Amino acid sequence: MARATGSPRSPNASRCSDRTIVNQQHLANRATPLDHEQVHIQRGPRSGLPVIVAVHSTTLGQAIGGCRLTTYSRWTDALSDALRLSAAMTDKCAVAGLPNGGGKTVVAIPPGHTLDPAARRAVLLDVADTIAVLDGIYATGPDVGTGPQDMAVIDERTQYVFCRPPEAGGSGDSSTHTATGVVAALHAVCESVFGSPQLAGRRFAILGLGRVGARLARHLAATRAELVVTDIDTSKRSVADELGATWLPPDEALASDVDVLVPAALGGVFTPDTVTRLRCAAIAGPANNQLDAPATAALLHRRGIVWAPDVVVSAGGIIHATAVELHHETSQQAAARVLRIGDTLARVLRDAARAGVTPAAAATNLARQRLQPSTDTTSREDCR
Ligand code: PHE
Repeated sequence: MARATGSPRSPNASRCSDRTIVNQQHLANRATPLDHEQVHIQRGPRSGLPVIVAVHSTTLGQAIGGCRLTTYSRWTDALSDALRLSAAMTDKCAVAGLPNGGGKTVVAIPPGHTLDPAARRAVLLDVADTIAVLDGIYATGPDVGTGPQDMAVIDERTQYVFCRPPEAGGSGDSSTHTATGVVAALHAVCESVFGSPQLAGRRFAILGLGRVGARLARHLAATRAELVVTDIDTSKRSVADELGATWLPPDEALASDVDVLVPAALGGVFTPDTVTRLRCAAIAGPANNQLDAPATAALLHRRGIVWAPDVVVSAGGIIHATAVELHHETSQQAAARVLRIGDTLARVLRDAARAGVTPAAAATNLARQRLQPSTDTTSREDCR
């Protein structure tokens, strides 16, 4: 247990200088300043695939963030994704009150390329070696395209990995806890927008039936909510049939007339174009980086749609994994922490309403307060 432990060490780029490192100095002349402490890019020696590990911040402690294994038409798109996702992890940890910073691993699989078990293992060992070089400033976990079994493979070469299967000593699948956190967030959103936390009888549209989305669908169906569901993979229609939910194509589900839209697939779903087509009152879901750009939060606000920031809603997985594996809490204690996502979201929505800003801005403010303790006016009690 607690293999991801080890006191967070300060970033030390020089010891990695024989590797391919994009560091602050190297990119100092670019128009956009590099926010990240370190970005490692390597062609995996075994797999030949681009392995990218972005460490955004270790200000609050060890950077954490999952390992994403998915298709990109260009590896540079994977780099952009790694930069944005790792920065979001910093805010996610700060807002959740965790003593951790943000990082992310992305492996860019070229279009049409499939990974057989041997190739998958090669990729994971390449990832593990890159993480091992970082010597504890960053620990990974599951993300889109990876799960607990993959974490067990990474563990063969580095201890800085969360969510190995329980039989291998880890805290297991994080998606159940992410889903629990989303449900807590949905109660808070309904309370704030409709005056009651009840989910029964409300209409939800779940965009994406992956591990978290399918769990949410089952939970909402069991609470007798009305459900619209969609996925780009049409074989997932069986989930809709099983639950008595309405199946719509992705485009129509996005624009369906529901109380709450639940984005549970890949990011970038809300753009100036899609925002004009929305017919929901609120949005709360686990997908990371839901907005195409920060300015889209203002467009949602102007349309009167309450957007629960993804960095608040999606934190259940990291909250549970760090509580159990780093802080040796019981599963029950960890579960109680995950449920507090509801309180955090209620606070963010309240702060936003009071200050007349978007919930996105209120969440960013909360993260900044925790990242710059000198300006922190809040209690640090829940910032373990
Ligand atoms: N996919 C998780 C997230 O983005 C990553 C993660 C889970 C990292 C659990 C560590 C532990 O939040």
